[in-house]
Amino acid sequence: MIESIKEQIKKILEDFYKKQYNATISIVVEEPKNIELGDISVPMFSVVKTLRKPMPQIISEAIPVIQTASDAIQSISNVGAFINLTIDKKLLAQEVLKNVILLDSSYGNSTLGVGKNVTLDYSAPNIAKSFSIGHLRSTMIGNSLNLILKKCGFNTFSINYLGDWGTQFGKMIVAYQKWGDFDKIKKNPIKELTELYVRFHEEAEQDPSLEDEAREAFRKMELQDAEYLELWRWIREESLKESVQIYDLLDITFDSYNGEAFYNDKMEPVVLELESKNLLKEDQGAKIVDLGEDIPPALIKRRDGGSLYITRDLAAIFYRKKEYKFDDILYVVGNEQKLHFTQLKRLIEKMGYDFSDHIEHVNFGLYLTNGKKMSTRKGGVVKLYDVLMKAIQMAYQLIEEKNPTLQNKEEIAKSVGIAAIVFADLKNHRSLDIEFNLEQSVKFEGQTGPYLQYTGVRIASILKNKTFDIDHTNIDIFEQSHYFELVKQISLFQSTIEKSAIERAPSILAKYLLSLAQSFNKFYSIEKINVEDECIRNSNFALAKATRIVLNEGLRLLGIKYVNEM
Ligand code: ARG
Repeated sequence: MIESIKEQIKKILEDFYKKQYNATISIVVEEPKNIELGDISVPMFSVVKTLRKPMPQIISEAIPVIQTASDAIQSISNVGAFINLTIDKKLLAQEVLKNVILLDSSYGNSTLGVGKNVTLDYSAPNIAKSFSIGHLRSTMIGNSLNLILKKCGFNTFSINYLGDWGTQFGKMIVAYQKWGDFDKIKKNPIKELTELYVRFHEEAEQDPSLEDEAREAFRKMELQDAEYLELWRWIREESLKESVQIYDLLDITFDSYNGEAFYNDKMEPVVLELESKNLLKEDQGAKIVDLGEDIPPALIKRRDGGSLYITRDLAAIFYRKKEYKFDDILYVVGNEQKLHFTQLKRLIEKMGYDFSDHIEHVNFGLYLTNGKKMSTRKGGVVKLYDVLMKAIQMAYQLIEEKNPTLQNKEEIAKSVGIAAIVFADLKNHRSLDIEFNLEQSVKFEGQTGPYLQYTGVRIASILKNKTFDIDHTNIDIFEQSHYFELVKQISLFQSTIEKSAIERAPSILAKYLLSLAQSFNKFYSIEKINVEDECIRNSNFALAKATRIVLNEGLRLLGIKYVNEM
């Protein structure tokens, strides 16, 4: 509600200057850092500058206009270039709490994206290889963005663009033909295939001709050689099992699993279009498109005719435009592919399509251990599934210590362990590298997922078997700062979600949930909730309940499950 008052002030002032002076001025409405100054503050510099009128005149004109923005405005004052206002905390609290309790999990729903289609491309593991940490990041960030965008009314479509095509499959096939064992792979596909892949790289260092063989094998796949395709299909199926294991654990599904292979027969028309638009150029037998001085050309076709990553992405984007009619297309992919997506955008632009501005590389950083890149590459230094299982095991141990008689420990430990991993990631802005520390992430205190779940559990136990009447509350108590701080946090839920959606940054929501939990815990450390006085008790319960609703819904949007006990 503070947000809606802020919006109203902005609108009413902008309209006023338009009407009065025929001036278009963008008004900024803020919340002062210093609470003493008020709840909302409007700096008037820009108005003075645009209208070239003295500050006192501008201020005295603006105050009565602002006053009409809301009944909840209690007082208006002026310090320097700022107009500061206080809000009637009682009115605000009453309205916010009623609203949350009435709307329950749909509180915070927004209409920001109504009528807009967004396609999200995330996870996209290269399935001949081990599921990497980068793909885990992509999965968690993408999943959360998808949920956040849906909450804002966008019509989303989630795609797992599986890396199921390309020379790495050629490598796999060659490795399998040379050293593979069908039965062993059947029994332990991920382990065996990873070993084969690692062996391929080791041997290729000694004998580079293996790389040629792999390219040739991939060529055969592209030419639809039945034997090779059969092998590919089998390897694909077996290697997908690891990813599926991880999705099951995280409880994540996609609207489409059309991977790179799906586009094998859809590239030719695109190449022809490039040709007919005179964009394609021969370069030492290969086909390229020049993209300008600032970036290297895009390699569209290899000398041997083989297709490339970018050729497939090009085919995929046209298919998606047609199929899903996206307004925006988001690619949740690591920083290291910045050039690739710059090239993709430039290609679309060069081809004369106007949607290139709506192609977004939602980039993210690396996981570091002691400042160095963590990798699953050679021989699976860190096996991701094992890391997730380890987190669950650690959560189990903590629960065992803190609450040994708890029922369903396994189920709860699973939610808590996953919360630890997911939150440790999403609380950081995605573009940053993250120092990964499992022990810290699983703790029930500090800035962790389990801390948020634990706060929810505390509230659940306060509310257990209690009833309260939201129409019989004592609203005077909301003037106290530990009460009001919490109400204010709750009132900011929707605008926080919208910000996260607009900036494609689940970290905004994650940080918000931390402050919400902190405000609640502070409140709870001061206030006994289940008090004698009925009206105060009702107010307290309503506030606790509203906090829990927002916390649970916020966690859901990050891809984390709430628990009732832990
Ligand atoms: N499979 C790719 C990789 O791991 C990521 C794919 C991202 N999506 C895309 N449309 N290019 O590098």
